[in-house]
Amino acid sequence: MQTVNYQLKHKLISNEYKPAYKLARKIFGNLEGRVLDYGCGIGKSSRLLIKWGAGSVLGVDSDETALDRAKRYKNNGIEYRLISKNDLSDVDGHFAAAFSSFVTVEISTKDELKRMANAIYDKLVSGGTYIMIAHNEDAVPYESPMISIRGVNGFNNQSGQQLDVEVRTSPPMYFRDYYWKITDYKEVLENVGFKIEEISTAKPEEGKDISPFIVIKAIKE
Ligand SMILES: C[S@@+](CC[C@H](N)C(=O)[O-])C[C@H]1O[C@@H](n2cnc3c(N)ncnc32)[C@H](O)[C@@H]1O
Repeated sequence: MQTVNYQLKHKLISNEYKPAYKLARKIFGNLEGRVLDYGCGIGKSSRLLIKWGAGSVLGVDSDETALDRAKRYKNNGIEYRLISKNDLSDVDGHFAAAFSSFVTVEISTKDELKRMANAIYDKLVSGGTYIMIAHNEDAVPYESPMISIRGVNGFNNQSGQQLDVEVRTSPPMYFRDYYWKITDYKEVLENVGFKIEEISTAKPEEGKDISPFIVIKAIKE
């Protein structure tokens, strides 16, 4: 296998994940105002939000190294902030919308999912939209030429089970994710006060009949 550099690697991964972002963009519709990007990582999702029409973006993440990297890009309209323990109490004001892409899949307990949902809920204006990209429970375990998502020590269909994710670049990249079902997300979001308005599945990759990603739209009532 050919060795690929970081930029190319990133592009390859983006191609696999693109249909999920595309669906999120469609579901957001006319995005405007101040938007919170929860778990922004190296800022890809924050930069997308600006492209999609956000007036400004605050990207927050608990990983300082990722944020340092995010700051190296062209970031017109974007600010980044390090957070810990899902605490947004130092963040001033409210947001018209919030986005978390591929973040809840990294959260290992339902309690933490609740804390995250609660922090986002508190920071949205009334009527504000929260859009989340997560795994599609019906597609896991998932195998494609570029991604493998499988249970650690086999798959047992249990909420919160650990997943090994392999992105088959060269060298491959490995992530530890967690398996959550739509019923878990519903429980967590509705528990903190969100109304779920839509749950849609991304377009499958060529040659596949199911996408490993879903998009959930929730509204702060
Ligand atoms: C797979 S990356 C996705 C980054 C970005 N949203 C994107 O679409 O490219 C997940 C990010 O979520 C962050 N994250 C996970 N749990 C978090 C938490 N509880 N609070 C803040 N950030 C968190 C990780 O540090 C990581 O940068």
